[in-house]
Amino acid sequence: MRIVLDIWRQRDARDAGGFVRYDVGDVTEHMSFLEMLDVLNQRLVERGEDPVAFDSDCREGICGMCGFLVNGEPHGPLPNATICQTHMRHFGDGDVLRLEPWRASAFPVLKDLAVDRSAFDRIIAAGGYVSVRTGGAPEANAILVPKPAADRAMEAAACIGCGACVAACPNASAALFTGAKIAHLGVLPQGQPERGARVMSMSAQARAEGFGHCTTIGECATVCPAGIKLEVIARMNRDWLKASLTRREEAQPLAIAPRTSPMRFYEEAPPTVEPAKPGASATTKS
Ligand code: SF4
Ligand code: FES
Repeated sequence: MRIVLDIWRQRDARDAGGFVRYDVGDVTEHMSFLEMLDVLNQRLVERGEDPVAFDSDCREGICGMCGFLVNGEPHGPLPNATICQTHMRHFGDGDVLRLEPWRASAFPVLKDLAVDRSAFDRIIAAGGYVSVRTGGAPEANAILVPKPAADRAMEAAACIGCGACVAACPNASAALFTGAKIAHLGVLPQGQPERGARVMSMSAQARAEGFGHCTTIGECATVCPAGIKLEVIARMNRDWLKASLTRREEAQPLAIAPRTSPMRFYEEAPPTVEPAKPGASATTKS
């Protein structure tokens, strides 16, 4: 079969970039999408041209390295599948496909279809861990984990950090990713001591990286290849609200009342009321 590809080519982060059309013949339906791109790159190299840059590693839907937009859809048209797990049998002979990198300011384009997702690493480094004392391995059953908690933790831990949720979100929000990384520790007994600090620091890091705010549109969960549910965002918001009440000093500085505030004046010097003299009305002085 023959596939026509309009691929975003961009030399580096400073280059303006643009689409370039490639006609790829001799594609078989058994090829994965990335194998089809390998064929294109092999031909480009043989012609002395620059191959198309794209990320990949496991090519088994596990590592989260691959990912770009196919006709505007993160990871292409298959639900719950990465682009490395999408095969050419899902496309037709002569199809025209437009390939673009993730579009989000927090994911700057490195080259062509490859973007810098180190912002995700910094969110995890901000609190996506459980602190433990080093020493001998603890007894496996020292902390019992209820089965429902273990199941929920495993569901959230399925996030592979691909970034499709950010690419699908009109606000370029990383709420699904951040929520998943917070939830998979927050539902376990071992994750409780740092639960409040974790949600505060990881959500603050997501904001600092330039990801947008979640408005619960839900596109992220629709395209997520790992099937992460919106529930993790609700759980993150609830944890944040609770932590912001008990850890107010980390959430935001306490507002200082201006000196001219009448409330401040009365807090410092409560008004006194002199007892009324016979034949006079009550007066107030500070
Ligand atoms: S939540 Fe889903 S779409 Fe987002 S990074 Fe994790 S696996 Fe990818
Ligand atoms: S290359 Fe690892 S998930 Fe696609």
